[in-house]
Amino acid sequence: MINTKVSLRYLCMMFESTSDRLTGAARISKGRRTRRCFYVTIGAMMAKAQQRAELLEGRPVADAIKKEVAAEVSRLREQHGVVTRLAAVLVGDDAASAVYVRNKVRACAEVGIESDKIDLSASTTTEELLAVVRRLNADDNVDGILVQLPLPKQIDDSVIIEAIDPAKDVDAFHPTNVGYLAMGRPRFVPCTPAGIIELLDRNQIEIAGANACVVGRSQIVGRPIASLLLQRHATVTICHSKTRDLPAVTREADILIAAIGRPAFIRGNFIKPGATVIDVGVNQVTRVEGAREFFGFDADKRIEAIEKRGYTLVGDVHPAEADLIAGRRTPVPGGVGLLTVAMLMKNSLQAAKWRRGL
Ligand code: GUN
Repeated sequence: MINTKVSLRYLCMMFESTSDRLTGAARISKGRRTRRCFYVTIGAMMAKAQQRAELLEGRPVADAIKKEVAAEVSRLREQHGVVTRLAAVLVGDDAASAVYVRNKVRACAEVGIESDKIDLSASTTTEELLAVVRRLNADDNVDGILVQLPLPKQIDDSVIIEAIDPAKDVDAFHPTNVGYLAMGRPRFVPCTPAGIIELLDRNQIEIAGANACVVGRSQIVGRPIASLLLQRHATVTICHSKTRDLPAVTREADILIAAIGRPAFIRGNFIKPGATVIDVGVNQVTRVEGAREFFGFDADKRIEAIEKRGYTLVGDVHPAEADLIAGRRTPVPGGVGLLTVAMLMKNSLQAAKWRRGL
């Protein structure tokens, strides 16, 4: 069942952002509630058919990358006797991190990379984790080391990141790799930003000359994706919590990257008509009303998910509003997350080759 109050707001918003004819109809229909609802619904259905953003699905791009990696992993094994190996370290019992690491280990199996999953308790100290990292650094059979973030609060994550051998740093979080990227001479590139570039390239979305706006300045996504876009000759703006009149800034962007960690924060009025919107956020929605507001016509299956497992996922972009304004947008789930895993496979393969001078 559609919640009338929420759907009315959503449908009126669709009107405002679509054609004049539809906006006119919305004005004429102001008056008795039932009549307004009737006119808006028909108009909104037309708007939906005419004007929905194209979905930039992560799956086909991630599958293509993994296929290429699998072929090269197998060539390395056959021609050079090299077995590519990734060590994935999970500390504590954060449920989301456990899912991410499981997906990474599963992807290794898909592409023929050997993996070691190392589970450590939530009470692990910095020293204990350091000892694990040093052992992996010294193990010549290990090509890549991944320590899943965030770490429990008693662990100093910068000490751990700086202890990882830069040659095995497949996350590209070590200052050496961060520095190379900042200089425009990347070695390893962080997986999510690298995946975003692949997604844009493989969908023929032009980066050079585009106005690109990154909302968020994290070490994992915001800063490195800004560097990569700059390196590809975009005009890059980085926004953050102190940016004045954020919607006015983001509305200039041909490519808008949302990486803030706030559910459905980027609304329709933040988006330039026709823009490409890349949604890096992964947030849980547990309230049915939230799902109705965020997903509009697609709310039913999201509400089902909430009823079945307690939550559904939304990104940092308001999907129903973005659909009316953007030219293309990445879905959540099924967008950028899949590319992060695929690029980790690519980086692990790269580590195996570089370490052997191949
Ligand atoms: N936590 C969120 N994203 C990442 C990632 O790309 N790598 C690691 N190690 N931890 C993360």
